[in-house]
Order: sequence, then C-alpha cells, then structure tokens
Amino acid sequence: MTSDATAGRRRRGAGITSDATGPRDTTGTSVTEQAVASLDGTADPRLRELLTALIRHLHDFTRETRLTRQEWERAIAFLTVTGQACTGTRQEFILLSDVLGLSTLLETLHQDRAPGATESTVLGPFHMTESPVRELGDDIDLVGGGEPCVVSGRVRAADGTPLPGAVVDVWQADDQGFYDVQQPGVQPAGNGRGLFTADTEGRFWFRTCVPAPYPIPTDGPVGDLLRATGRHPYRPAHIHFIASAEGHTPVTTHIFVAGDEHLDSDAVFAVKESLVQDFAETDDPALAREFGVPNPFRHARFDLVLERSS
Ligand code: BEZ
Ligand code: FE
Repeated sequence: MTSDATAGRRRRGAGITSDATGPRDTTGTSVTEQAVASLDGTADPRLRELLTALIRHLHDFTRETRLTRQEWERAIAFLTVTGQACTGTRQEFILLSDVLGLSTLLETLHQDRAPGATESTVLGPFHMTESPVRELGDDIDLVGGGEPCVVSGRVRAADGTPLPGAVVDVWQADDQGFYDVQQPGVQPAGNGRGLFTADTEGRFWFRTCVPAPYPIPTDGPVGDLLRATGRHPYRPAHIHFIASAEGHTPVTTHIFVAGDEHLDSDAVFAVKESLVQDFAETDDPALAREFGVPNPFRHARFDLVLERSS
C-alpha cells in the first residue's frame, strides 16, 4: 500500500461522528479521501501530486467557506463564460490568472536569475501574433500621433559581455491604450510591434511613441469580476520585451514609464522596481537627427541582461 493511501486511511476517521443511525461524516472528509484515493492508478507521479493537492485544497476551500450549491453554480457559469470569451486573439483565462495574481506568482517562484540579470514579468495576453522583423532604428508606431520616443540599450550577459545578434521582440499598446489585435481594421497589423536583431556590440534601438497607461479588457467576465470587487482595470504604461541570445536564458519582461500613477496599483500586480525606467525629456538636436526624431524627444535607455544557460 502506498504511503498516500495509508495516510488516507489514517485521515478517514476525522470528521466522522456516530449517532443512533450510525456513522455520519459531517465534514465530507470521507469523500475527500475517496477522491484522493481514486488517483492511485495515476502513472505520472507529478500529475498525481498536482491532482491530489488540487482536490485537497478545493475540498478544504469548500469546507472553510461553507460554499453553497448556488455559489458553485455561479462559479461554473463564470468559468463557462470565461472559456466562451476566448478566441484566436483573446485569452480570457490568461487575463483571469493575471488579475488573480497567479501569473505574477508563477513568474516570481520560477525566477531563478543571476544577480544583475533583468527581472522577468508577465507575458500578458497580447503576444499572440508574430512581431514583424524590423531594422534597428525603425519606428514601430505605424500610425503616429503619440509623443515620439527612442528606446535604446544593449543586450548583454550579467558579466557585461555584449551579446551581438541577440533578438529583441517588442510589443506595446498605442498612445490610446490599445494593441493592434484589439482593433483589427482600425490599427494596421503589426502596429507597436517589432522583432529586432542587436548589432555587433549587442546594441538595439528603435523609435516609438511614449506608451500610455491602459485598462485591461473589461468587456468580458474578468471585467465583471473587477467591477464586483471594486478594482480599477489599469496597467501602468509599459513596453513589453522578450530578449533571447544563443547560450542564454530568454527573458520576458516590460519596462514601465517612471512616474506613472498606476505603478503602485497595477491591475495584474506585475510591476517590479528594477523595471521602472525614466523616459527622459531629451533636448539634443544632434542626437535627435541621428535617431530621426523631432527635437526634443523622450529617451528610455536600459540594458537587457541575460543569464547564461547551463
Ligand atoms: C499586458 O500588459 O499586455 C497585459 C498583461 C496582463 C493582462 C492584460 C494585459
Ligand atoms: Fe501590455
């Protein structure tokens, strides 16, 4: 007999009381143990571990909150609508994981980075199309109208070694707070996106507009959840990155615009202090000419620091 099954036997007595009509399981302990024991034949030990913990936590949650049948039906209806809201370009379940803090918790638990390496943060639901390949210096703001800005830096290893040929995948919302995939037919596909290759010294630079804070989508069940809990839906202004280089672990991250009013209340809990960057007002006509932007302009400079993979 496995140790889990033995433990199950031991636990089975708990919560069972006797009265004139025989034993009565007042806490549902017996069904918990039966459900756990039903996993005895699971070939994959990790699957068994996860399902066992899931059953125990779900059952404990139900006991602790005295969940009613109507509440459980309401929860099932919510999860059903969440699934129905998913399309090829919308992932409501990722959004749910984000607003519950689960995505950030996973990132934090598995972030095993060398000192000095760039911190990771959530991928989010909008990295669902391939970014168009662009040349260094290209403008990813295909529409214009926002405040011009240059983003530049270096992809390097934690010891400072530059990583020539590193790939930098970038995506951001437009200056109205919408991603291209949210506005097909309004924004051109690929607006706010670019796949750049760092030069021989690991440098990257591109033009864009200063991103704006934006609300995560609230027209689905996750929006209902935010309203029911009195939460605002805003994310502080940011630009997303995935940086990768041969022999190094890729990093999925954002940079956040310093001074944004939502830095302390991100709807998806993804802000890390090291990722907050100054988008500095820059009055330098020669540099502006070099980058091909009107002077003055905003300039964010930061390095993407990757960890060597073992
Ligand atoms: C995003 O930054 O794209 C994002 C992240 C999590 C939820 C919604 C949006
Ligand atoms: Fe975003």
